[in-house]
Amino acid sequence: MIPREILEEIRYRCDIEDVIGSYVTLKRAGSNRNGLCPFHSEKTPSFTVFPATKSFYCFGCGAGGDVITFIQKIENLDYVGAVEALAKRAGISIPNESVGTRGGVSRRRVLDANLEAAKFFRNCLFDPVIGKAGMAYLTGERRLSTAVIRRFGLGFAPNDFGMLTNYLKKRGFSEEELLAAFLCGRSQKTHQLFDLFRNRVIFPVIDTTGDVVAFGGRVMDDSKPKYLNSSDTPCFKKSRVLFGLNYAKAHAAEQMILCEGYMDTIAMHAAGFENAVATLGTAITPEHARLLSRYTKRVVINYDSDDAGQRAADKAMALLDEVGLEVRVLKLTGAKDADEYIRKFGADAFRRTIEESRTAFDHKLNALLSRFDVSTTEGKIRAARETVSIIAAVPSGVERELYLTAAAEKIGIAKEGLQNDVARARRALAANAAKERGREKNAEAFRFGDRVSPDAAKDPAAANAEETALGLLLLYPEHRAAVKAGKIALSVEDFATDLGRRAFAAMTEMEESDDAFLFARLGETLSPDEMGRLERARRERQSLSNNDEEVLRAAAEFLRTAREKREATARGDWQSEIRRRRAARNQDKQQN
Ligand code: UTP
Ligand code: MN
Repeated sequence: MIPREILEEIRYRCDIEDVIGSYVTLKRAGSNRNGLCPFHSEKTPSFTVFPATKSFYCFGCGAGGDVITFIQKIENLDYVGAVEALAKRAGISIPNESVGTRGGVSRRRVLDANLEAAKFFRNCLFDPVIGKAGMAYLTGERRLSTAVIRRFGLGFAPNDFGMLTNYLKKRGFSEEELLAAFLCGRSQKTHQLFDLFRNRVIFPVIDTTGDVVAFGGRVMDDSKPKYLNSSDTPCFKKSRVLFGLNYAKAHAAEQMILCEGYMDTIAMHAAGFENAVATLGTAITPEHARLLSRYTKRVVINYDSDDAGQRAADKAMALLDEVGLEVRVLKLTGAKDADEYIRKFGADAFRRTIEESRTAFDHKLNALLSRFDVSTTEGKIRAARETVSIIAAVPSGVERELYLTAAAEKIGIAKEGLQNDVARARRALAANAAKERGREKNAEAFRFGDRVSPDAAKDPAAANAEETALGLLLLYPEHRAAVKAGKIALSVEDFATDLGRRAFAAMTEMEESDDAFLFARLGETLSPDEMGRLERARRERQSLSNNDEEVLRAAAEFLRTAREKREATARGDWQSEIRRRRAARNQDKQQN
């Protein structure tokens, strides 16, 4: 358990607006602040920070909680990890015994092991004997300067099964830690640890705070696999890390270049394009898109020119568009990727291709037109049909207008016809969206498919009363006192859902053992999603004018009645079960 003083110190010193403001661009909205939600893709802000309650809530996706919940979610940490990160930020030290008891390997230990490993790999590369082949490969075949090699902290993993393992063990890392860091494997035969990265040049992956979070290692010939990457570890999730972002974030104001590879990124940086980043051996995810949107307004997609690269580019376009980024697509001719292009044609030629990069729409239209022969009527019709569905999906009227003009000209038909079809397609889309909204409303009222509180659907009315009670208790100390004193009868069993029971139990226990209620402490027992649900309960009450004791009393009574009804039903079922069994037995007797 984290000492209460620490939690209060964090609450006091880590201003929620500052902390969240370093991840999300916040704008003033009355006494609150709002911005684009970092936890789901959106173009208009529904994410709000409430300085008065020191909390946040997203009206779009339901994420919410306090500053600790926020760090848990955005940095993918557990409760203790988030508390540690915030304490570090505010210069508060946490006594070791309060965090040391966690099971498994801590993120910090893995980061420490990674840093030592990165030093080891670098020393090997610069060793004239051990690193000879690696250095020859990087400076010869890949034409990297020593300055670039140093800037990216490149290294070399020697062709040996034990050098790194021994090096790290000597520095006090346990076997468990080395396995968790994905630096070592365990041999099934000998049960000994061995180095996972061998005879490869090493690319450390460094996050935006400067920590080494993972490694990629490339073979120096044609053997397979070409790259070996760290799998997910306590400090690394490849779906949310971009290679090169540690440097690119400072050059991202205007635009960023998104590519697929370590070497492409490095080649671009070396040629002066320091706004380049890459995903790590994986397709771009919504998390990557949101990460990019925190740093820039426009992304130039620079994927391989083969079919796979183009399919990946289509997906990237959709994801980047969803978070409101302007998207361009780079088309390289005469080379398969940026690294090769720059080497063949130079940095100036590359700069021109960036300037000539097409808007996402142009790219799609061109790809589409290349599939049809628009000199024939048949081809025109089919090209027009597909174009209509692309344009209809564009939200901005101004953009649709421009696309209509461009598309009509390219296909060689009158703009009016295309325009009518787009209007019709948009009406159909709107009708579908309305139907979908209706379905969602219904599901919400009946609590179907409630991920966070699955048993709410069993008794939706009680689940609502429960949220009312929780909201009031979270907001008002006097209501908590009334319940504690028994002025209002409310107990754990009265709550209708598992989430409600656990939240109420945690609140009660806190008041009894820890002096007083502290919202920040709830995260110790509830998940970040559940914290979001409590924040919603609090927000809903706060937006209403009548929050007096009578409301709480009514909610508590409703919960008790609902509980009695549930229990009666359970008894009823039990009795009918007895009747059914008796009847069955009697029937058996009669038959015999
Ligand atoms: P490519 O095969 O296009 O390689 O993979 P590349 O970037 O051009 O690499 P070089 O120039 O041959 O060195 C693109 C990216 O996909 C991931 C890596 O991140 C690579 O940079 N990848 C590729 C893997 O993770 N594993 C592999 O085996 C291959
Ligand atoms: Mn390449």
